[in-house]
Amino acid sequence: MHKSVFGVIGLGVMGKSLSLNIAENGFDIAVYNRSDYGEERIVPNFLEDNKSFENMSGFTDLEGFVTSLEKPRKILIMIKAGNAIDSVIEQLLPFLSEGDIIIDGGNSHYLDTKRRSDLLASKNLHFVGCGISGGEEGARKGPSIMPGGSPKSYKQIAPILEAISANDKDGKPCCTYVGKDGAGHFIKMVHNGIEYAEMQLLAEVYAILSVTKTNDDIAQVLAKWNTTDVSSYLLEITIQILQKKEGDHYLLDVILDKAGNKGTGSWSSKTAFDLGSINTMMASAVFARYSSSFKEKRIKLSKDLNKQVSSLEQPNVEVLLKAYRFARIINHHQGFELMNLASVENDWNLNLSEIARIWTNGCIIRSHFMEQSVAVFKTSESYLEDKTIFNLLTTSEKDISETIVLSLKNRTPLDTFWSAYNYWISMTSENLPANLIQAQRDYFGAHTYQRKDDDSNQFYHTNWLES
Ligand code: 6PG
Repeated sequence: MHKSVFGVIGLGVMGKSLSLNIAENGFDIAVYNRSDYGEERIVPNFLEDNKSFENMSGFTDLEGFVTSLEKPRKILIMIKAGNAIDSVIEQLLPFLSEGDIIIDGGNSHYLDTKRRSDLLASKNLHFVGCGISGGEEGARKGPSIMPGGSPKSYKQIAPILEAISANDKDGKPCCTYVGKDGAGHFIKMVHNGIEYAEMQLLAEVYAILSVTKTNDDIAQVLAKWNTTDVSSYLLEITIQILQKKEGDHYLLDVILDKAGNKGTGSWSSKTAFDLGSINTMMASAVFARYSSSFKEKRIKLSKDLNKQVSSLEQPNVEVLLKAYRFARIINHHQGFELMNLASVENDWNLNLSEIARIWTNGCIIRSHFMEQSVAVFKTSESYLEDKTIFNLLTTSEKDISETIVLSLKNRTPLDTFWSAYNYWISMTSENLPANLIQAQRDYFGAHTYQRKDDDSNQFYHTNWLES
């Protein structure tokens, strides 16, 4: 029997698009979807709709699907993250043989991936936690792919993943081996954390500009920005969203202001807390989404307050652009710092320049700045070590201050802009009031403190009530 070289489990939006991408790239592929719970027609319909791909076969029985694959089997699971992944792995296990490779292409938590890697390794099987970004279109035409796991397993799946991924501007695939066990999913989680803050920054720019401008006017301002170094995919789609009309009104104006989320932004923030990393921008972006979700409370409180801002102040678009550039740099800096810390903690040896490179195309946070970042991380470990970037932040400090002052006057919440500003001020201040925190801790809990006038790292305790 002719065997397929690759298998995909789960024909949701992403699974379908990736399968077609793989088939189109000439690989013989088998797809599987369960046929219960109203999903009976998924496989036959998919095959019927895509009959031009003769190199694609479909299954609704797992054993038949697995046996149709050449060994070592390479199976991509594209189903909702969570317990369902464990359950599919469990169902697959009886049919697998030593050396087979299971790839989880969903947004799984990296600690789950670590656990699953250990489990499968104990059965001489490989598990690849693989971040995939780019949404439906990316999956079909070329996503950014972030595989983690063993280098040996990557070697075997690389020809397929690198063929279906997007390419960077030099024609190299936006897919690279990132590191062992949970590294791939960790990287994807941080990608999403950066994505959350990038989206929120644009929402805040929109909030500032919409005080005095129509959606079309804002789109025009942003279209100009998109011809500069702040250009990005998210800016590009924001321009299109602002212009979209439904009859005689803007569609955006009728979209309810309650933002949803599937968890990856909050995972990044929680992980930052666990690792002691300062990721205030992604955390602020998550909280901004949460604030938006309390719509009913907001309506009530705004009525109770009944506050009218007397006269709204026009933003200076040039100043706002510089503030936006400033905040984006801090956002990327915080995200890459999180990866730096995690790399040391987990012994992943992450190559930040390569990670930036695979994020230059195919993924949601692709941008001109990401292209610049590839070079930055070839010579520096951090954005703030790069002289050009540091000078840029230094010279635009006044612009972000001005933007924040405007937000106070106009009563516009700017969660992520403020976080960017505070981070910069704190990190460039020799002295912070943490001496008082240490004194308070020592006062009520004898937690001890170190002294400026003793550099021996000794810890002191004071009896604060003793006169
Ligand atoms: C991508 C996206 C994609 C998706 C996430 C986040 O890189 O293609 O990050 O994975 O947007 O599911 O979605 P939420 O905003 O719903 O958390």
